[in-house]
Amino acid sequence: MLRVAFRRLSTTPVTGQRSMSQSSLAGKVAIVTASTAGIGLAAAYALGKRGAHVVVSSRRQAGVDKAVALLKSQDIQVTGTTCNVGNQGDRERLLQTTLDQCGGVDILVSNAAVNPFFGNLMDTTEEVWDKVMSVNVKAAFLMTKLVVPHIAKRGGGNVVFVSSVAAYQPMQGLGAYSVSKTALVSLTRALAPELAQSNIRVNCVAPGIIKTHFSTPLWQNDDIMDDFKKQMCIKRVGEADEIGGVVAFLCTEEASYITGETIAATGGMGGRL
Ligand SMILES: NC(=O)c1ccc[n+]([C@@H]2O[C@H](COP(=O)([O-])OP(=O)(O)OC[C@H]3O[C@@H](n4cnc5c(N)ncnc54)[C@H](OP(=O)(O)O)[C@@H]3O)[C@@H](O)[C@H]2O)c1
Repeated sequence: MLRVAFRRLSTTPVTGQRSMSQSSLAGKVAIVTASTAGIGLAAAYALGKRGAHVVVSSRRQAGVDKAVALLKSQDIQVTGTTCNVGNQGDRERLLQTTLDQCGGVDILVSNAAVNPFFGNLMDTTEEVWDKVMSVNVKAAFLMTKLVVPHIAKRGGGNVVFVSSVAAYQPMQGLGAYSVSKTALVSLTRALAPELAQSNIRVNCVAPGIIKTHFSTPLWQNDDIMDDFKKQMCIKRVGEADEIGGVVAFLCTEEASYITGETIAATGGMGGRL
């Protein structure tokens, strides 16, 4: 066993060159949902910087235009379109735009989520529950179902879901949202063996508290943050690019033996065995 490993090492080309090609996504096409701001935009940036053509989208055209301009200014190949992930017609149009303009797809990053209610779980209405599960879980699954056959046609690729530290430790006031994020961890594990047959790896990222518009009520509240900081090893809020890089890593050959996994990027918060 060890001898095989040594043989592999000794035939390895110059280390720098090898890692460069393994981290490259040149020639790949990546759909990132909800990618005109925050973590989605950071993921698109990180994938784009590794050479992928990224397809960005969100509900508002103005946001799409801004994100496309920003990514283009960074010499990233980018296509933009509107897409509300909760809407089947929009999901189909996002895929068709990608196929028409990029010729295929290799990577799906399912990043969109909503949280319309903050309060006790027992006060959550059926309407709120349905909305959270519909966008955060059902749309993530249906988008995957739509895109996967096209990734398979290219010989394989990657699906990455964006979950949350709340998947492991439900957050007070965010009960339904936390349950939806736990479902994504399970979806990742359930899909991985099935899609491995098509050479598709399925992984997930669980961010901690990241400084974006979505989490403003958390990081702008000193009392809440003091409490969170007690649970963090790295005593600060994370930045979106600290998640974007993890998403991109999972899509590269450097992560070729990782599937069915959820990577927590939380500054050490919510650690698990
Ligand atoms: N920030 C955190 O602390 C944190 C922690 C853990 C997990 N997360 C997860 O990270 C993901 C991204 O959150 P974020 O913090 O980056 O949020 P954000 O900065 O507020 O960005 C949200 C993005 O999603 C788009 N969007 C919202 N609803 C959409 C929908 N129905 N369909 C398509 N696009 C939609 C928004 O654009 P439009 O308004 O134009 O649609 C925007 O581009 C979510 O899954 C969230 O649960 C975040």
